Parts: sequence; structure tokens; C-alpha cells
Amino acid sequence: MRAPRTRRAWPYGLLGLAVAASLAVVVPLATAPAAQAAEPVVVATSTFEDGTTQGWVPRADETVAPSTAAAHTGSGSLLVTGRTRSWEGPVLDLLDTVELGTRYTLSVWVRLAAGEADAQARLSVERRTDGTPSYDQVVGNTTVTAGTWVNLQGQYTLAQEVEFLTVYVETASGTPALHIDDFALSYVPALPIQTDLPSVKDVLAGEFPIGAAVSRAQLIGNHAQLLSKHFDSVTAGNAMKWDATQPVEGEFRFTDADAIVAFAEANGMQVRGHTLAWHNQTPSWVFADTAGNPLPVTAASKELVLTRLETHIREIAGRYAGKISAWDVVNEVIDEGQSDGIRRSRWYELTGLDFIRTAFRVAREVDPAAKLFINDYNTNVPAKRDHLFNLVSQLRAEGVPIDGVGHQMHVNVDWPSVSETEAMLTRFIPLGVEQQITEMDISIYTNSGESFPTPPQDRLLRQAYRYRDLFDLYRRYSADITSVTLWGLADDDTWLDSFPVTRIDAPLLFDRQLQAKPAYWGVVDPSQIGVTPTPTPSGSPTSSPSPTASPTSGPTPTPTTTPSPTPTVNPTPTPTPTPTPTPTVPAGSCRVSYSVAGQWPGGFQGEVRVTNTGTSAINGWTLRWTFTAGQQLTQAWNGTGAQSGSQVTITAATWNANLPAGASVSVGFLADWTGSNPAPTAFTLNGSSCTVS
Ligand code: XIL
Repeated sequence: MRAPRTRRAWPYGLLGLAVAASLAVVVPLATAPAAQAAEPVVVATSTFEDGTTQGWVPRADETVAPSTAAAHTGSGSLLVTGRTRSWEGPVLDLLDTVELGTRYTLSVWVRLAAGEADAQARLSVERRTDGTPSYDQVVGNTTVTAGTWVNLQGQYTLAQEVEFLTVYVETASGTPALHIDDFALSYVPALPIQTDLPSVKDVLAGEFPIGAAVSRAQLIGNHAQLLSKHFDSVTAGNAMKWDATQPVEGEFRFTDADAIVAFAEANGMQVRGHTLAWHNQTPSWVFADTAGNPLPVTAASKELVLTRLETHIREIAGRYAGKISAWDVVNEVIDEGQSDGIRRSRWYELTGLDFIRTAFRVAREVDPAAKLFINDYNTNVPAKRDHLFNLVSQLRAEGVPIDGVGHQMHVNVDWPSVSETEAMLTRFIPLGVEQQITEMDISIYTNSGESFPTPPQDRLLRQAYRYRDLFDLYRRYSADITSVTLWGLADDDTWLDSFPVTRIDAPLLFDRQLQAKPAYWGVVDPSQIGVTPTPTPSGSPTSSPSPTASPTSGPTPTPTTTPSPTPTVNPTPTPTPTPTPTPTVPAGSCRVSYSVAGQWPGGFQGEVRVTNTGTSAINGWTLRWTFTAGQQLTQAWNGTGAQSGSQVTITAATWNANLPAGASVSVGFLADWTGSNPAPTAFTLNGSSCTVS
């Protein structure tokens, strides 16, 4: 694949990726808004204003032609007629345009030709590797009409080398004629990851492994670097689920899961297997007869689905035997709304509890080394927790090999309280089971009605305090908790962007450009985010925002109706720029080197290395310099940064305050710039000038 042909700044601001508002007040930079998204770069557009098809062709026998009968902007569009099959539609070759591992946004406007009845359209990608085609949906079925233009916009990352790559518009059924217009393919340039930060896994070493749920696309480039730097455990976010591994009976697909396991092995990471039996992301054939009809509730049906379950587990768990630290054998089987607490899934309707018994028995048989878990969400909710406790007690008493309970911990900035979460952990201790946090994320939203174009700073701070407090709890129970996993690597790829509603969420430790957020510091070094404790709402709701596992099924999340006390989030704690008393640094006994690690329109990442060239230790330091061209810091790490006017002040973090003779410390930061970005020429350490190299 060649480099993209054309790149220019995104002209429309359509993607809602805002540029940083400048900071009006001096704030500790570890608590400042995380790096703001840079401008998207547009790689390809099709406006159909020049009377050509601009490279778009038919997928098969239909006709594509320039048209002025309708236009989203300007006067031209592309008209597709003569479709005879629903998958026919306008297609564009992207092989030379798209790069492996880059997360693209694809956007196109669709309108049916005059007189056509409403239909469902979608935006799809066809790719081929070694001649084998695969089809990915960028935007799922969306209602389109002849009366209005509808935007199909979604994200796509190519995770595998291909020899064929196209994007096309098709319909779910029917063959209406349609127009497309204003296609755009863009991406936000990735930033280098921050290499000078403490690794989360090192900070937590000796307590529990820390994991992230990933897709295959995150095993490439900057994402892979971030993953291996900070995490020592990994979960396949989707790649080991039934729909991914056995979409058709007897046809197993392991390419993505294999890649994740291989990456983990190569990087010395544990693998959590997720998941063997679940009511979501399980193809309908599992519960259907050979003609595709739903199975009736009979003894024969029960035998059939238990056989299918056994076959499935033998294939998947058997394939990775010895390589998996823990399997989520069954997922989300509790429903506290039922009097017996058991979810009425198709599994349960057809087999009772026997699918759980079979799943654990077979998993233990084929992978005796893996710890076997029962995994669920909202296990902090007392009623749900207690039903889970009862089920695990009952099944273990029967001899079902359940080793542990997985708490998903899809939570938010307000809920649940630490004490309720502690009660969740202590409840299971008498059972003698392992406990793991399996899918943690902290939504910035407290109910389904909220939506922010950009995560507000106070929410990011509240989130950081929640991460601090919950990890503090986990550390206190590290004898009982054998693993903690976050449900994602960074905010650029989170299921919460589309669940329970479509909006921009930011639930993880790293932002959309993979830079550390206040949440990261909440886990790694809470002194960086101020000292105000988060008041935890008391009397937390028992009917909570319930993250159910699928946007399409399961109970609808209930918005929190309990008024949430607004925690005092210490929005602008004024840093003390100079510690008192300031240790003196003899003149000339420090050296500073300043470099720009990466620069893009409007922003850059800088690094400043300070060396103690004197003969005695400096215990506590403050570094200062002046930006001469209006540059403005937005975030710092390995130190607390602030800017007042043009003067930048960085004070040591607790863990690097002591600088022995001859030692160096490296501070990283993000800043905005316009016009020019000259390097500062003078630096002081505790007031004394340093040499500059
Ligand atoms: C989610 C994935 O992250 C999404 O990509 C997918 O579309 C739906 O499932 N509980 C679970 C996970 O056990 O498997 C779910 O993962 C999130 C909720």
C-alpha cells in the first residue's frame, strides 16, 4: 500500500473534533484537559461537482453516473440505477489510500432517487487477503428516504495486509436507485505515545496484572506500543466470542484471536479468554434447527444445543489450552428481576442450568490450566450480587469447577460508591473463589440523556478521582483480586461511544490520541491530580445505569434518577509553583536539553531532560522557562506543570523529586502553538540558570 495521495486539512468541522480552548486559568497540568484532538486530515473526498464519477464504479451490473437531479452540496451527486441485488451499489477502491492500523472516519451522504420507498442502507468494506474475501460494516443499516439526505458515518481500521480493499454503499434488502454525495475519508494523526511515563503494570506490580480489552487492529503501531508498555494482560474484546469464532456451524475462524494470543505471548502478557457461553453475539443457528427455525423446548433440543456448546468449547478453549490465564466461561447469566435470579436466555430456556454445568466441565477438561470464571455486570448491586453468590455456592457445592467470579465494573463518574463496591468484594470472600475485575471502564456520563461534544474537564477530574478510589480499593483487596482489566486501551476505541446511546465518551486512562489522562494519574500517582477526595454519593442507586452487553438486546439501561451530588472536584487548585524551602542549586550545576518529539498543526509534544551536573543531590526541584512565541502548555507528565503568561513552571512529581548528583529526569508535555514554535533558550532550576545542550 502506498502513502495516501492527497492530504489536506478537514474543511467542514463536521466531525466535531474540537480544538483546545485555551486555558483561562492556571491549573495543575496533570489535571488539565487531556490532549485535545488535532485536526483531522482528509485523505479522499468525492463531491461529484465535476460531472464525473470520481473513481466510483458499479459493484456488478448496475449503472453509476453523475447526476444533477439531487445534490447534498453544490449541484452534483452520483446516481446509481439498475440495481438487481441488494449488495450492488457504488464502490470506491481504497487499496492505495488506506494504511494499516490507522483509524479512519468514513462519511457519505445517501438519498434515494425520487419516488423510491424508504429503505435501509449501510456502508461496507470488502477486503481480500490471499484471495479470501471478508466484509466489514462501517455503518450498519440506517433508514434512508427519497426526501432527505442521510449521513452514514463510522470508523474503520484495517488490521491485516490485504490485496483488495473497497468501500461501498448497499441496502439491507430491495434494490432502490440511490444518490450518494460528499464522501470523505479522514483520520486524526496519531501522536507518539509518551514513553517517559511510569508503566501502569509496573506501578501495580505485585498487586495484580492489569489488562486491556483489544481488537486486532490495536496490535499495530502506536496502539501496540501503548498496550505493551502499560499492560501485562489482554482480553479479546470481541475476537473470541461465538459470532467471531464460529459464525456458521462447523466453520471456525481464529485469525484475529490467534493474532491477539500471539501478541500476548510475544510480549509476556497473560490472556483472559472471553467468552464461551453468552446470550449475546451468539449466532442464531446455535438455537435453530437445520431449516433455521427456532428450536422448541424439548429434551432433543436440549441435547442438541449442549452438544453444540461442547463442540464449540472444545475447539476454542482446546486451541488455546495452556495459553489462557482465565476464561469467562459463562457471561451475564444473572437477572435480578427474576425470582430465582437466573436470566431467561435461550440457553436457559432450552437447557436450564445445564449449559453452565456443561460449559465449566468441558472447559476444565480441555484447558485444565485456565482458571474458570463466571462473569457479570452490576455485581455491586446487592440483589444481583446475592443471586450470583447463591448460584456460585450451589454450583460449586455440586462440584462444578468454578474458580472465580468476574466483576465487569462498567461504572460511571458517580456510581457506584466505594463502599458498595467493597461489599461486592467482601461478599464473595467466604466462598474461597478468586475475584477479578474484568471489564472496567468509567463513563463520564451519569445517565443516557447526557451528551458532550468534548469531555468536560470537571468530568475528567471526577473520573480521575474515581479511578484513584476504586484502584485504592482493589489494592486493599489484592489478596483476593487476581487480575484487573479495563474494557479498552484508549478513548479512541470504546464500546461506550455507541452504548447505551451514540455519543462521545471517554472512559479509559488514555485519550483519543493515546495520551495519559488525569484518570491515568488517578491510578499511577494521585498526587498529580490534587488532594480533594471525591465525595462518594451515599445511598447509591440500586437501579443503576445497567450496562447490558449488547446495544440490541438485554435490558435497557435505566438512567440514574437519583440526583447525583456534584462532587467538589477541585477544579482549579492553585499549584504552589515553588516548594518552600527551595533546595538551592549551585549556579551552573544543571543542564537542560529541550526537544520537540512531535509537532502537528496547532500542537506539539515536548520533552525536557534535566541533569544534575553538580556534586550533591537536589531534593525537590522546580524548572522554569519562557515560551517566546505564545505557546501554551495543556498537559505535562513526570511533573506538575503550569503556565502563567509566558512563563512555564514544572515542579517535580513525588517519585522523581530527588535528583542525585549526575542523575537526569525527563519531563514531557503537550502544548499549543501558532505561527512559529521556537525552542526556549534559557532554563532555571530552583532559580539557578542551567546550561542548555
Ligand atoms: C462489547 C464490545 O466491546 C463491543 O465491541 C460489542 O459491540 C458488544 O460487546 N459486557 C461484555 C462484553 O461482557 O463482551 C461487551 O463487549 C461489553 C459488555
